[in-house]
Amino acid sequence: MSDYAAHPNLTVLPASGQVRGLMTIIRNVETRRNDFIFYSDRLTRLLVEKSLELLPVFPKSVVTPLSLPYDGVGFEGKICAVSIMRAGESMEKPVREVCKKIRVGKILIQRNEETAEPVVYYSKLPSDIGRRWVFLLDPMLATGGSAREAIRILLEAGVREDHLIFINLLACPEGLHTIFNTFPQVRVVTGAVDEGLNDRAYIVPGLGDFGDRYFGT
Ligand code: PRP
Ligand code: URA
Repeated sequence: MSDYAAHPNLTVLPASGQVRGLMTIIRNVETRRNDFIFYSDRLTRLLVEKSLELLPVFPKSVVTPLSLPYDGVGFEGKICAVSIMRAGESMEKPVREVCKKIRVGKILIQRNEETAEPVVYYSKLPSDIGRRWVFLLDPMLATGGSAREAIRILLEAGVREDHLIFINLLACPEGLHTIFNTFPQVRVVTGAVDEGLNDRAYIVPGLGDFGDRYFGT
C-alpha cells in the first residue's frame, strides 16, 4: 500500500498536543460514552474549521468602528453537509456549531457485518446540491466502500468532484487508496491516518466501532 502522507488531496490535522490529547481520549477503551461524545465533537469542530480553509475567498474591504478601512476577504460559494448514516450523523451537531444554518443531506449506508461490503438504503439531498461545496461526513474511513458509494450518489446528483470534501476523524491507507484512485479530485480532511485494517476490516489501532460508542448501542 502506498504512503499517502504526502498526497496533495489529503489534509491531516497537525498532531498538536491538543489533537493528540483528544485522540488519546477517544481511542481509550475505558472512555465513557459522554466523554467520547464530548471529545469527538471537539475533534469534528477542528476538522470542519480545517476544511473551511480549503474554500475560496474573495477580496472584501470594510470600514472599522474607527472609520478606517480594512482590506479583508469574504467567503465565496455556498456549502452544505451530507452525512453517511448512522455514524456520520454524529458529526452534524458540531458542523452546525461552526457553519450557521448549514443545510444537511443524508445517505443511509450500512456495511454488511460479515463481508464489510456497503449497502445503500436511502438518500435525501438538498435540491440545489450541484451548485454547492459539499462536506461529506463520516467519522471512519476503513475500506472506503461506504464513502465510495456515497460519493457516487453525490456525483449522480450533480455535485462537482472538485467541490467535494470528505471529512473523517480516522482514516487508513486502504480507504485513502480507494477514494483517491476512484475520485482523483475529491479531497479528504482527517484527524489521523492509522496503520491499516484487521481481518474484520476494522481500523487498527483505531477506536473500535464509532457508531456504537457514540450512540451507545
Ligand atoms: C462504519 C463507519 C463508516 C463505515 C466505514 O459504518 O461509520 O460508514 O463503517 O467502513 P468502510 O470504509 O469499510 O465502508 P457502519 O456500516 O458500521 O454503520 P454505522 O454507521 O451504523 O456504525
Ligand atoms: N467502522 C468503525 O466504526 N470502525 C472501524 O474501525 C471501521 C469501520
